[in-house]
Amino acid sequence: CGIVGYVGQNNAKDILLEGLKRLEYRGYDSAGIAIRNADGIQMTKVKGRVAELENRLQPNMVGTLGIGHTRWATHGEPSIINAHPHFSQNGRFCMVHNGVIENYSQLKNEYLSGTSLISKTDTEIIVQLMEKMYEKLNDVEEAFRETMRLLNGSYAIAMIDAEDMSNLYVSKNKSPLLIGVGDGFHVVTSDAIATIKETNRYVDIQDKEIAFISSDRVAIKKLNGESIERTGFEVELDSSEIEKGSYAHYMLKEIDEQPIVIRRILEKYQGENEDILIDPNIRIGMNQADRIYIIAAGTSYHAGLVGKGYLEKLAGIPTEVHIASEFNYNMPLLSENPFFLFISQSGETADSRAVLVQIKRMGFPTMTITNVPGSTLSREADFTLPLYAGPEIAVASTKAYTAQLAVLALLAADIAIYKGLKLDFNFKQEMAIVANAIETLCDQKDRFRELSQEYFTNTRNAFFIGRSADYYVAMEGALKLKEISYIQAEGFAGGELKHGTIALIEDGTPVIALVTQNNVDGLIRGNVQEVVARGAHPMVISIEGQEEKGDTCTIPAVHEILSPLVSVVPLQLLAYYAALQRNCDVDKPRNLAKSVTVE
Ligand code: G6P
Repeated sequence: CGIVGYVGQNNAKDILLEGLKRLEYRGYDSAGIAIRNADGIQMTKVKGRVAELENRLQPNMVGTLGIGHTRWATHGEPSIINAHPHFSQNGRFCMVHNGVIENYSQLKNEYLSGTSLISKTDTEIIVQLMEKMYEKLNDVEEAFRETMRLLNGSYAIAMIDAEDMSNLYVSKNKSPLLIGVGDGFHVVTSDAIATIKETNRYVDIQDKEIAFISSDRVAIKKLNGESIERTGFEVELDSSEIEKGSYAHYMLKEIDEQPIVIRRILEKYQGENEDILIDPNIRIGMNQADRIYIIAAGTSYHAGLVGKGYLEKLAGIPTEVHIASEFNYNMPLLSENPFFLFISQSGETADSRAVLVQIKRMGFPTMTITNVPGSTLSREADFTLPLYAGPEIAVASTKAYTAQLAVLALLAADIAIYKGLKLDFNFKQEMAIVANAIETLCDQKDRFRELSQEYFTNTRNAFFIGRSADYYVAMEGALKLKEISYIQAEGFAGGELKHGTIALIEDGTPVIALVTQNNVDGLIRGNVQEVVARGAHPMVISIEGQEEKGDTCTIPAVHEILSPLVSVVPLQLLAYYAALQRNCDVDKPRNLAKSVTVE
């Protein structure tokens, strides 16, 4: 979910709406806004998108203090009743929340037996509890602190009070929340991207802190009431980067940006001579490690799988890759000197953050590779390597994935050089060739649109196969297709298909095979023959110069180890056009959110 708040001199409604549109990547199944004005608190909520909310808002909704929310449902189905904000029973307190309250049923039983709850959300428990605490303590600040003290779980909360024209009340634990500082106003937001047009100056509030915010003052306190002084920081973000321009969808724009991103990464990390510009302590830390543990979710996990190959093959460090949500609760036996590498586009994924918190407690070194340097994972890890991909707005990740691969390759190459290992190629030159190769593929959109039409128009499922690094790209290709076109798709190791999954192959089932790895070329081609013999409709994507007659298309020749950066591009474009043909909402697929801040 995304939350936003405003207190200042201008009409809060417009600022909140703009903010919510920018926060929709965090969820978009319902939305709402509440504004405090002379008549009390006016609220509008809808099931559906922020655009729907905008249509529903009354022109007379005017006020200079307000809060807004866009939701990704956890407790309670998407509906107007479950949409935020939520009111306390007497209508005094009004609240938005991002996160999950783990002890909500205990709180409900202990404190709210006499309260009739309207919604199915855990958030309503918090606001009702606030009313109860106020009845007891007769002081809003104290009641707010007491309420926050009772909560277990993750939350970013913003609250307004019908009896108070000038203050926003906020608190957080685990979920992100920033306070934006302007001249004569303040904003609160889950992500600076939502309010960057208003201000680029921000102050963070940390876990289990609260803040009382008026137009000209921010008071941050601990839950025991102790005041905290905190200096702010500037967010470097060009607001033009978050516009779609002439593109129909962010996803296509972001696919097209990949060559620029690769070149930008090379430039940003360009040291003297062959050197790569990273904090020398990262090199030292990783070189001392006997094993690297990569922790990530979704597309970032897929990037981690390819990254393992880089770290092992180039830098010679044993590496394991783990799904974040599994790691904490089923931890493997760790090596003696582990080094933890968190890969996260957003830097906010709660599953990954939970692991980071645990690993920090254990005292092991940590690093985050992220697109958002000020994000929670970036702030909390010992080191950060930024992706420099620019804001990624489409829910399906594309340019962040290739940026992750590029930075992982660069990191591995750097450690290899540091260790005195010989690379058999000029890394920077080869990366430049990769950028050109992606550009060539992005210029062939018509071809991929046609292929997409041919393979995916009438299918209900599809298989992506590959061996070695191609297998990991196949997993990413399948994820792209299923998340935006809703075609059931799976990525399989080419050799494994015959051990069960081949039973699903029917006449015409699309099987997309990646053939870019020389040592398994013959084997994967054999696997293609196995599915063809059972009626599959194969699409073979091979590498220029090594293609065979009958291959469907080729990617330009690049160094074999870097081919995942290039071979994923046709799969991204195929998925994009499949979603378009099926009239799916490409940038905001159903049920998903770009940044999932609950475990
Ligand atoms: C969500 C998104 C995925 C993303 C994953 C991890 O589930 O829908 O596209 O890969 O989170 O996100 P992160 O920001 O940690 O890379």
